[in-house]
Amino acid sequence: MSKKVFVKTYGCQMNVYDSNRMVNTLKPHGYEVTDTADEADLVILNTCHIREKAAEKVYSEIGRLKQTKMDKAATGKDMYIAIAGCVAQAEGAEMMRRAPAVDMVLGPQTYHRLPEMLASAAMQRADGRTSSRVLDTEFPIDTKFDHLPEESDFESAAAFLTIQEGCDKFCAFCVVPYTRGAEYSRPVADIIAEAKRMAAGGVIEITLLGQNVNAYHGLLENGETAGLGFLIREVAKIEGISRIRYTTSHPRDMEEDLILAHRDVPECMPYLHLPVQSGSDNILAAMNRKHTRDEYFTMIDRLRAVKPDLALSSDFIVGFPGETDEDFEATLDLVRRVKYAQAYSFKYSARPGTPASTIEEQVPEDVKTERLYRLQALLNEHQQEFNEKTLGTEMDVLLEREGKLPGQLIGRSPYLQAVHVDLTKANNQLAADADKPYTHFMGSLVRVKIVEAGPNSLKGELVGVLRQQVGHGH
Ligand code: 5AD
Ligand code: SF4
Repeated sequence: MSKKVFVKTYGCQMNVYDSNRMVNTLKPHGYEVTDTADEADLVILNTCHIREKAAEKVYSEIGRLKQTKMDKAATGKDMYIAIAGCVAQAEGAEMMRRAPAVDMVLGPQTYHRLPEMLASAAMQRADGRTSSRVLDTEFPIDTKFDHLPEESDFESAAAFLTIQEGCDKFCAFCVVPYTRGAEYSRPVADIIAEAKRMAAGGVIEITLLGQNVNAYHGLLENGETAGLGFLIREVAKIEGISRIRYTTSHPRDMEEDLILAHRDVPECMPYLHLPVQSGSDNILAAMNRKHTRDEYFTMIDRLRAVKPDLALSSDFIVGFPGETDEDFEATLDLVRRVKYAQAYSFKYSARPGTPASTIEEQVPEDVKTERLYRLQALLNEHQQEFNEKTLGTEMDVLLEREGKLPGQLIGRSPYLQAVHVDLTKANNQLAADADKPYTHFMGSLVRVKIVEAGPNSLKGELVGVLRQQVGHGH
């Protein structure tokens, strides 16, 4: 009998990737995906610990699920609740105590053991215990990548591939080194094999993922290790892969070979997310970022020297403990000098267990709010300018999803801008089969002329089809 699993994913792309792998682990055990908790035999919350009050949000979601579980039990149906991801890793035992409705808590390194955990939970229930509990948040020696089944069906022409996990940097504000563990890189051959399967499944764009992706140092078959620059060159050789991206990078790990990959590899997209967090040397030191503001500028100069059109993106934290007005002004100054195409910015918030959370000198909330507002106004201004520069130009866009308007598909420019393309007009002229619907273009790489530029997206008209995708036209 087929069973149903509902997965709710929070946070980063790594979690999206992990959720897919969990589903693939369950498929051989008779599970199908459903998009409502009501229908599910198993609900998995794949959680994220980065945002503020992350744990509280998970607990309130569990509260809602508990009701669903009780309603189902009243009609004689079983439902299991599993909490995965970084909140599970961080809260583990505490969560088992505080939320009795939860059957399983599993950390990001133990997803391949999900079927065993389910079997164990089911056995405990069959034994007549009212609640069955399994906790698995170890960092096992054998890696989940050796065990998780391969991804087989790719939903989009743009897909993610995890190449590295964990982080050894220990920025003072960040939970990742504690929740995801030490830095681990997958062997080159495994990644290339996965990328080839993706290409065979119709994937055109691959984003290489890792918490600290440019710290990548994967094993080669000859026992030596290779860096991210090498890996990008290898992935670029795969037939069918036209675009390569990678995220998230640390400024300290931008090796020369990786910088040169931006110059030498046409598939390597001209976009780089290189978080700096702050523009003040004092704060960078307090954050344990391991580089100065000048070193960051030098890095940006080197990148722009080899790739003048490189679009840059960053993360910022305002109101880190001890941040003065002067420190904050230094951040604004850095932003003015670099001019990002796009960026994310956050108010600092203390994460239990991190060194910064114990610093007494916290910045008042209203000061953080005001700083965030000013920073975002500046970042938005630059983003708008960057978008406007593309007006009237032609760009390659990989169409990935349907838009809100009829006849509209949305894709990404090389610079990761969202581009909305109206295909109703172009359909008759450019489609190989004029009678096919506009969704026929889904998954295709097309040439687009930019006719409108907003703060968050562009509008474009189709001028040509570079690569027609087959198999994604659903
Ligand atoms: N407070 C605020 N922002 C944080 N980030 C990570 N930890 C914290 C925190 N404690 C932000 C950083 C990071 C991004 C993913 O989330 O900017 O780069
Ligand atoms: Fe967290 Fe990134 Fe710093 Fe690692 S490098 S500790 S993941 S912010």
